[in-house]
Amino acid sequence: MANSKYEYVRSFEVEDEIMLPNIIIVRIDGRNFCRFSKFHEFEKPNDMKALELMNLCADAVLEKFPDIIFSYGFSDEYSFVLKKTTKFYQRRASKIHSLIVSFFTSVYVNKWKAQFPQKDLRYAPSFRSRVIGCASIEVLQSYLLWRQSECHLNNQYDTCFWQLIKSGKPENEAEEMLKGSLKQDRNELLYQSFNINYKKDIPEIFRQGTCSLRTVEDIVKYKEDGSAVKRCKRKFTRVYSENIASRRFWNNQLCLVKELGQFTEDLSKTKSEYVKSFQHESRLMPSTWIVVRIDGCHFHSFSDVHQFEKPNDAQALNLMNSCAAAVLEEFKDIVFAYGVSDEYR
Ligand code: GTP
Ligand code: MG
Repeated sequence: MANSKYEYVRSFEVEDEIMLPNIIIVRIDGRNFCRFSKFHEFEKPNDMKALELMNLCADAVLEKFPDIIFSYGFSDEYSFVLKKTTKFYQRRASKIHSLIVSFFTSVYVNKWKAQFPQKDLRYAPSFRSRVIGCASIEVLQSYLLWRQSECHLNNQYDTCFWQLIKSGKPENEAEEMLKGSLKQDRNELLYQSFNINYKKDIPEIFRQGTCSLRTVEDIVKYKEDGSAVKRCKRKFTRVYSENIASRRFWNNQLCLVKELGQFTEDLSKTKSEYVKSFQHESRLMPSTWIVVRIDGCHFHSFSDVHQFEKPNDAQALNLMNSCAAAVLEEFKDIVFAYGVSDEYR
């Protein structure tokens, strides 16, 4: 398409570069996972295997996209933080988040069977994604504080709720009992009624969520003549920690400080204006025609590795077409689809 008479179609694409010095976060979130988890009989309130599957997908994302240096996830969501100076896809929001969410989702489907050998994946899951631009390291710190507080609040609430249900309370009564309760009340309820010490008895992965950070390790290699050479090996490390938005946690991680900066003070809460900006979603004007174009990323090598017939592989095209049919089935507002090769619109 470049330098061809069709180059004008580029003008149909949105201008959505996230300008420096904004730090780019991509957050993905399971779409209607309330239904998905019921359908697939996830354990309540937390299913260790389901969480591990999410974590494996996040690891795969970190492995695939070297500009992501930190990730944090819980329940059906994950946030990925790119290094401050990233030039990935010219910092274009739509490219970056669509790539990450589509890769995450296909890994989720791919790894399902290994994680749940006894359970079939009964329908295709989907995840939503968005980009959040953080104008400074303090905004990123607020974002992490906000997400980890959400993890804590949700998990503490759900732990109480399901304990009440297990003890025989009907759902509406359990909801009524927890209405307006404070963190301290819920800890008390768990301790007094169920002999559960929230902090000691509930695994940290449920209470705190999961972080992965990219680190660089010096390794020594030996040449044929026996002389030693130092090499850098990139790896990523999983961490479970309280208060990931604290100076104590963050400033101890050299790679995070190097690529994103230091936290200068501890925050007690996230400013509501910041939360508003994290939740902001831009909308198109009413009556705007919406065309969503998807296009395989590096499909040239994908088709080589999977030995697609040249120049056209009928099975591969049928697969694209049946995916498009499934999309039309799932999203009733789509009225027309047209596809060729590795793209659809
Ligand atoms: P949208 O994100 O708005 O599409 O709705 P959602 O249904 O995905 O809800 P939300 O993202 O707010 O919350 C995630 C939901 O996923 C929880 O409310 C649970 O119902 C479900 N979920 C996530 N992890 C688990 C798990 O380990 N066990 C169980 N039983 N449910 C889970
Ligand atoms: Mg969700």
